[in-house]
Amino acid sequence: MQIFLDTANIEQIRQAARLGVISGVTTNPSLVSQEGRADYEAVVKEICSIIPGPVSAEVVVEKAKDMIEQAQKIAAWAPNVVVKIPATAAGLEATSTLAKKKIKVNMTLCFSLNQAILGALAGASYVSPFVGRLDDIGEDGMGLVRDIVDVFDYYEFDTRVIAASIRHAQHCVSAALAGAHIATVPYKVLTQMIQHPLTDIGVARFQGDWQRLSEQ
Ligand code: G3P
Repeated sequence: MQIFLDTANIEQIRQAARLGVISGVTTNPSLVSQEGRADYEAVVKEICSIIPGPVSAEVVVEKAKDMIEQAQKIAAWAPNVVVKIPATAAGLEATSTLAKKKIKVNMTLCFSLNQAILGALAGASYVSPFVGRLDDIGEDGMGLVRDIVDVFDYYEFDTRVIAASIRHAQHCVSAALAGAHIATVPYKVLTQMIQHPLTDIGVARFQGDWQRLSEQ
């Protein structure tokens, strides 16, 4: 499973990139607005210059024609940009047109197996089931990831499954066990993935023992 970072925070992206475990980045309008930056294009270009892998940037219009127009502009920002398009009828229409133009699409706001299948059939390179938001309304977000992975495997779809709306480290474990190709995680969750109290205790003990030895 690959890990993408789900953020528009440049410092977090730089720090995560140094760990050598991040293959891509996903952003959305909410994440960019959290950074207080309205210069979306500049933010995405900066991220693309730090991370050579896929960087998702979302369209913010609703009609298919407008999505296609905006997506083509976004795709021209950098060679590694992937355009995020919502799983609506307009989004499917835009996705199929963009796929024919070889523009990579990440079908976002995906909440059902049907939406994921339609996204794949329209030619999306990625579909993003939103795990946390389904859990929020009492549904089984990771169950959806599992179903999409199984169905895509069965029909040999090339579309990659991104487990999105990841809220905690246990979601990452479940995404890996569900066979998600990618989990896109907030920086906080990435740091949770690294941590284990026994590692900290072990490091402290080794250092203490080594210190005592060197003082003898
Ligand atoms: O990857 C999608 C993500 O940014 C949405 O997360 O926590 O707002 O549901 P959340």
